[in-house]
Amino acid sequence: MFHRRRHLLRSCILFVVLPLLIFTIYSAFFSTFSFAPNLSNSTQSPVFSSTRTVSSQSTLRNGSIPDIFELSLWRLILTGGKGNQTLCETPSQYRSIVDAYCRAHNRENCSMIPCTLIYLTDEFTTNIECLRGGKFATGIQPDWICRKSPALELFTNSNRKPSICAEAYTTLTAELYGQALAPYRDEETSKWGLTLEGESIGYYPSVASKKRVLSLFDISLGYDRRFFDLITDKHLTDYVNKITNKHNRRLTINQVLRKKVKERAPILWINSNCDTPSNRTAYMLELMRYISVDVRGKCGNPSWNKSYTLLDPKFFAIEKTTLASEYLFTIAIENSLEYDYVTEKLWQPLAAGSVPLYLGAPNIDEWLPCYDYSCIINLRNFTSVEDVANLIHSLTRNRTRYIDYHRWRREEHVRPSFITMTDYFQEANKYSIECLICDMVHRNDHGTTRRKLLAANNPFNDKFPSLS
Ligand SMILES: *[C@@H]1O[C@H](CO)[C@@H](O)[C@H](O)[C@H]1NC(C)=O
Ligand SMILES: *[C@@H]1O[C@H](CO)[C@@H](O)[C@H](O)[C@H]1NC(C)=O
Ligand SMILES: *[C@@H]1O[C@H](CO)[C@@H](O)[C@H](O)[C@H]1NC(C)=O
Ligand SMILES: *[C@@H]1O[C@H](CO)[C@@H](O)[C@H](O)[C@H]1NC(C)=O
Ligand SMILES: *[C@@H]1O[C@H](CO)[C@@H](O)[C@H](O)[C@H]1NC(C)=O
Ligand SMILES: *[C@@H]1O[C@H](CO)[C@@H](O)[C@H](O)[C@H]1NC(C)=O
Ligand SMILES: *[C@@H]1O[C@H](CO)[C@@H](O)[C@H](O)[C@H]1NC(C)=O
Repeated sequence: MFHRRRHLLRSCILFVVLPLLIFTIYSAFFSTFSFAPNLSNSTQSPVFSSTRTVSSQSTLRNGSIPDIFELSLWRLILTGGKGNQTLCETPSQYRSIVDAYCRAHNRENCSMIPCTLIYLTDEFTTNIECLRGGKFATGIQPDWICRKSPALELFTNSNRKPSICAEAYTTLTAELYGQALAPYRDEETSKWGLTLEGESIGYYPSVASKKRVLSLFDISLGYDRRFFDLITDKHLTDYVNKITNKHNRRLTINQVLRKKVKERAPILWINSNCDTPSNRTAYMLELMRYISVDVRGKCGNPSWNKSYTLLDPKFFAIEKTTLASEYLFTIAIENSLEYDYVTEKLWQPLAAGSVPLYLGAPNIDEWLPCYDYSCIINLRNFTSVEDVANLIHSLTRNRTRYIDYHRWRREEHVRPSFITMTDYFQEANKYSIECLICDMVHRNDHGTTRRKLLAANNPFNDKFPSLS
């Protein structure tokens, strides 16, 4: 039993958490994985097979477990990024869903699609194990089990309509959700969830202009507390002790200064996703006209060596932090400049003892461990890039003034709002959109979970509500 659970958990991590994680990290550094791929250009296997892949596994046969239609996998499978690409003819009863999906991605003809998107297969059908309330059951007896798969076959169950787990890389069109999938919506047996875990809402043109679409979903997860029910942050937890000084992990001012390497430029810049809504590459090219910057990412780096991309992203995060510690200042410009969208780009330099030159969330003050912006330089505060360069020049010449940006390290306590926020995330991160959906189906939840999540005036100021 234990082994089976481990296997299922592993599958879940393999198919859901890992791709998301890898994509998030990957898109932050390497632009090779382009957003909104043109599906019609993808290479498809010419193999035709209408053979239905059957399996004896209980996962496939068990009709009593609630189903979650994993729309979030469609993009990867259709573009050939995952699994067996054998094509099957799209059965006529699913044509409206498939056509709506394909039109949302400018793909012309979807009369043939990978068989795994139609029929339940071992490869993409997994049981997820959850606790009452919506946490993953990690290594403990689950309260609920749900079956998830990207296969349209889930819609054949006449007793129980499947729930839907969507992500915003799949364009949220009215045709797909309002028309094609709407008939399968069922108050009692199916719940709809949306996750925008990877990027801010502004990163997805299909959502940013249609925030009303969010009201279609029973539960949503993303970065902006004004729109989403649940806000998670998987990055901050890696750096929080180095910021709050838990277990004496925070660098002192002396340690910060000792790590600086004299020969370096004052500023470090590492970005490899160069074409972002924040236009950071253009900003940096302008800044570099006035001040010297060490460029160690792909963007703005003519001598970029492709072999660097072989670096393990996890290892890369450690490398980036170590490198940042050697610099007085580190560029922290987010992919998009959206409310509440704050990422490891800020946390890494703060943890490393390098002053972040930050451009990102307009409400960044609410996220800082220090008062009055005293631990970052907020690039929004400057009318010209030249002014930024002038300030940096003057700070590099005056140690006392530079140290001002590290004075917060001497305080015994960081700003209390920062602690409340990290406590919130510590709890929120234990939930997953799939387990929330699974829990809501099992409990036939008519909005209780959502109401509890939204009951807090401001999720970072209030305790995370108990959902169980
Ligand atoms: C893909 O699936 C088809 C149909 O189930 C099967 O015949 C074929 O061998 C599979 N191909 C690979 C590479 O697994
Ligand atoms: C499938 O459903 C039956 C009840 O119909 C249950 O006893 C069994 O444990 C389920 N199998 C799995 C893998 O959950
Ligand atoms: C779509 O493709 C199939 C086979 O790939 C072909 O038989 C059919 O005519 C095409 N339909 C359209 C509308 O292009
Ligand atoms: C980025 O550049 C585009 C095109 O010049 C412009 O429309 C957009 O407003 C810019 N975005 C920001 C955040 O400055
Ligand atoms: C890129 O880096 C690799 C490994 O460090 C090295 O072997 C190779 O010569 C470099 N290529 C260029 C063009 O600099
Ligand atoms: C903006 O810059 C001015 C002048 O340096 C400073 O007094 C002010 O505190 C800064 N405000 C923010 C929000 O960084
Ligand atoms: C450095 O800045 C401080 C505070 O602004 C000032 O009192 C001091 O004279 C400056 N030192 C130099 C060498 O300019």
